[in-house]
Amino acid sequence: MERPELRVLIADDDEDDYLITRDLLSQIGRPRFHTNWAPSYRAALQAIELNQHDIYLFDYRLGEGDGLELLREALARGCKAPIILLTGTDDWETDVEAMKAGAADFLVKGHLDVRLLERSIRYAMERKRAQEELLEYANEIERKNRDLAQAVRVAQEATRLKSQFLANVSHEIRTPMNGVLGMTELLLLDASLTVEQRDYAETAYRSAEALLDIIDSILDLSKIEAGKLQLERVDFTPAEVVQEVLKLISGRARSKGLELNCHIAAEAHGPLRGDPVRLRQVLLNLVSNAIKFTERGHVLVRVSVAEDSCGAIQMLFEVEDTGIGLTAEACGRLFEPFVQADGSITRKYGGTGLGLAICKQLVGMMDGQVSVDSEPGKGSRFWFTARLQRPEGAARAEQAVAEEAS
Ligand SMILES: Nc1ncnc2c1ncn2[C@@H]1O[C@H](COP(=O)(O)OP(=O)(O)OP(=O)(O)O)[C@@H](O)[C@H]1O
Ligand SMILES: [Mg+2]
Repeated sequence: MERPELRVLIADDDEDDYLITRDLLSQIGRPRFHTNWAPSYRAALQAIELNQHDIYLFDYRLGEGDGLELLREALARGCKAPIILLTGTDDWETDVEAMKAGAADFLVKGHLDVRLLERSIRYAMERKRAQEELLEYANEIERKNRDLAQAVRVAQEATRLKSQFLANVSHEIRTPMNGVLGMTELLLLDASLTVEQRDYAETAYRSAEALLDIIDSILDLSKIEAGKLQLERVDFTPAEVVQEVLKLISGRARSKGLELNCHIAAEAHGPLRGDPVRLRQVLLNLVSNAIKFTERGHVLVRVSVAEDSCGAIQMLFEVEDTGIGLTAEACGRLFEPFVQADGSITRKYGGTGLGLAICKQLVGMMDGQVSVDSEPGKGSRFWFTARLQRPEGAARAEQAVAEEAS
């Protein structure tokens, strides 16, 4: 296919020089050139404004201004076509300056021949095409990034609204459920119930309790996801929290014939600053799981120091059991909401699969990590870390923040 001719503007205040350049252009076989002449700086500027040329050849000397100024002016006015500067003298400094200003090439008139001019124009046009392609590509990427960012915002907002909705609904269900529990409790205090009536009322009470547990889990998880859950920062003794959890669960362990033990490091007996209620919640879920999924043997809780930095302690809590254990594949996905190792386990042991998801979120809020090592049939070791501040360290840190702010 025949290439269309290229429109060239030659800006030169010397007509003879213009004619020489035009002549050279006419000797280039392909592409063909259609030339226009701008004999002055002003005429060139007017032609550039019209934006009708594919390439510009500016002489360095142009009467009232120079070619370099014209080049800068043209670029400032949004000229996209390549501009080649022609000069009478081979001056290295002007050459560098022209390149820095954005010239496509810098040619010395005395050395100019057809081949050199053709090559310079060809390279300039090719570079321009590549630049346009690159720009189009960059624009495309930018557009995609913007779309992606928008999609992420929409998805985040949808998740937030869903969590907010779940938090509201579970909160609303909690109130009547407490009514059901309270009333059933009163009913159970009635001595005149027949054995059958008592059995019904007890089943209703246990069911209501289980339902309240599920609702509490959903409420917790959705509150965390909606960013509504704040951790407390109070002084407490971690060892006491562990003992409380063990006491609460010891009945269940005893009834299954399991040994329940603990090793607590000395550091956990001193006061530390953090959220005891949430620490208790994480521990309680891990220890309840350990007892739920262990038929014989023991459950051991270990508390030690993972890292001791000046103002804070990273505490390590481990819950080890000799229960059914988990495959490596199951271990990898347990901390997602509603995930349970397998369906038959759910039917046998009950639960919603929210416990570990909540633990993961809470532990994250305590600057810690949670994980599990396990072997099917042998048992599991669930562990998590939590950053607890030393009260005097916390006081110092708060003082430093206050001083920095003032
Ligand atoms: N100590 C353990 N030994 C073996 N499997 C466990 C152990 N702890 C957790 N799992 C597996 O991980 C799953 C998820 O535990 P998670 O605590 O999240 O939920 P759940 O106990 O089933 O229900 P929920 O805690 O919401 O009442 C369990 O269903 C079980 O399959
Ligand atoms: Mg659980």
